[in-house]
Amino acid sequence: MKPVKVGIVGLGTVGGGAFNLLKENAAEISRRTGRYIQVSHVGIRRDSGKYDLHGVKVSQDIFAVVNDPEVDIVVEVIGGTTTARELVLTAIANGKHVVTANKALLAEFGNEIFAAAEAKGVYVAFEAAVAGGVPIIKVLREGLAANRIEWLAGIINGTGNYILTEMRDKGRDFADVLKEAQALGYAEADPTFDVEGIDAAHKLTILASIAFGIPLQFAKVYTEGITRLTREDVSYAEELGYRIKNLGIARRTPEGIELRVHPTLISADRLIANVHGVKNAVLVQSNAVGPTLYYGAGAGAGPTGSAVVADIVDVVRSLSSDNNSYVPHLAFQPNELADTPI
Ligand code: HSE
Repeated sequence: MKPVKVGIVGLGTVGGGAFNLLKENAAEISRRTGRYIQVSHVGIRRDSGKYDLHGVKVSQDIFAVVNDPEVDIVVEVIGGTTTARELVLTAIANGKHVVTANKALLAEFGNEIFAAAEAKGVYVAFEAAVAGGVPIIKVLREGLAANRIEWLAGIINGTGNYILTEMRDKGRDFADVLKEAQALGYAEADPTFDVEGIDAAHKLTILASIAFGIPLQFAKVYTEGITRLTREDVSYAEELGYRIKNLGIARRTPEGIELRVHPTLISADRLIANVHGVKNAVLVQSNAVGPTLYYGAGAGAGPTGSAVVADIVDVVRSLSSDNNSYVPHLAFQPNELADTPI
């Protein structure tokens, strides 16, 4: 059978992580999908020399990847919203399936992107956009499909949680820990997204859309970050038996769905209060199964690359069968795009 050809746009932390995994775990992945997955084309503005691109077409013009007739699946991992939006819409218009880790893009332009994908009959998969390696999108779409979800609350920014953990455990300074998180590849290109709660708000927008079947409405999220927290706040909370966590919370209220991101005091004996470092955790309250908690690495090359590759696997499985239920794309129908009150 012909290999499935993947084009990767961007070989930074996430793209590089996915590229390495497709190579290292090629045998397992082929066994699981029944197909060989070949990275045939990468779009990179500069070659870092970190990856063995032997036998891979390399283009500095990243649009060459989405216009390449050989590419079946485009992986968009450049981040940002302007070029990324054009790139993804072009890929869809060209009939390509898209895998993206870009939460900002989906939170802000997802309604347009999903409607375009639906019209064209292609998949847009985005497990890597939320909580890194924790498969929370699949949980909400598949694992909890029988439930009415009442609310969810999560630590969904690893950088922010890393900063709060280091401030608490080692009394370190905010700015110092942020620099380290940037060096480790956890932080966003613009780290204010991490520390001002914007990245968490992007992710919460996506989670709420799937959990409650509503359109993406990022502009309606109440958003507060951790920049005003001091080491004293963290240690006073501790003395009182609490931890401070920046939570993303989505819940049903009589007035509609409420979405908010802000620092929250959590009793130190709760599981979610004990999520440390770059780890993420999402607690979901649903009516049949009750509360469930999902925990794991929320950022970094391996975890986020793993989620990208899982989406590639889903798309490939769906291409190889009549059953496309594996693929997470539309959380709602395009005709439901009316402004749902939040
Ligand atoms: N900057 C993000 C975080 C990366 O720290 O959680 C993963 O989405």
